[in-house]
Amino acid sequence: MPEIRLHRAGPRSGLMRLADADPDFGSPYWARPWGGGLALARHVLDRPEVVTGKRVLDLGAGSGLVAIAAMLAGASAVVAADVDPYAIAATRLNAAANGVAVEAVLADLTKGDPPDVDLMLVGDLFYDPDLAVRVLAFLERCVAAGIAVLIGDPWRASLPADRLRVVAEHVVADFGDPDGAGRPAAVFELV
Ligand SMILES: C[S@@+](CC[C@H](N)C(=O)[O-])C[C@H]1O[C@@H](n2cnc3c(N)ncnc32)[C@H](O)[C@@H]1O
Repeated sequence: MPEIRLHRAGPRSGLMRLADADPDFGSPYWARPWGGGLALARHVLDRPEVVTGKRVLDLGAGSGLVAIAAMLAGASAVVAADVDPYAIAATRLNAAANGVAVEAVLADLTKGDPPDVDLMLVGDLFYDPDLAVRVLAFLERCVAAGIAVLIGDPWRASLPADRLRVVAEHVVADFGDPDGAGRPAAVFELV
C-alpha cells in the first residue's frame, strides 16, 4: 500500500528479546498489518467519501493501519482503540511516520456503550470465536445507535458472514501466504 508507511517487525527486530523481558507480552499482532486491515485501508483510500468529514473509530487497531488510512482519506478525527499497550505504542509511532493525528486509546470498548462517532472501522477482529461473539454484539449495539460499521476480513472462520453485506473485494497479503500471492478478503457492512 504505497500511500502508507508502517514500522514492521523483521527477523532482526528483537521481538523475542522483548517477549522474554516482559511477562505481559502478548501476541505481537501490532507488528505487521493483517489481511482484513489491508482490505479496509485500501477501501477507504480508494473511496475517501466513505470517511471524509466523519468521526471514525478503528476498533482493534494493531499497527494503526486503518486509522492512518482514514485520516489520510479525510476523516475529521480518528480514535484507534486496542487492548494491547504495544499496539497503542505502534499506532502512535506509525501515525507520526505518516504525519497524521490519531488518538490511540488503550481500552476494551466492546464492554461499554457505543462511542460518540459516525463510523466504526474494524480490521481483522474476527480471528477468535469467543472474541467474535463479543465484537459482533457490540457492533450490533453500535448500528442500533446509528453508527455505520465497516469490517475488513479475509473470510476467517469466525466471521459472522450471514450478518454482513460485501461492499468491496480485494486480494491481500496475510499471515501464512507461502508465496506472497495473497488471498481474497472483503470489506463488509454490518446490516
Ligand atoms: C488481528 S489484529 C488486527 C490489527 C489491525 N486492525 C489490522 O488489520 O492490521 C487484532 C487486534 O485487535 C486487538 N484486540 C483484541 N481484542 C480487542 C478488543 N476487545 N478491543 C480492542 N482491540 C482488541 C488485538 O490486540 C490486535 O491488536
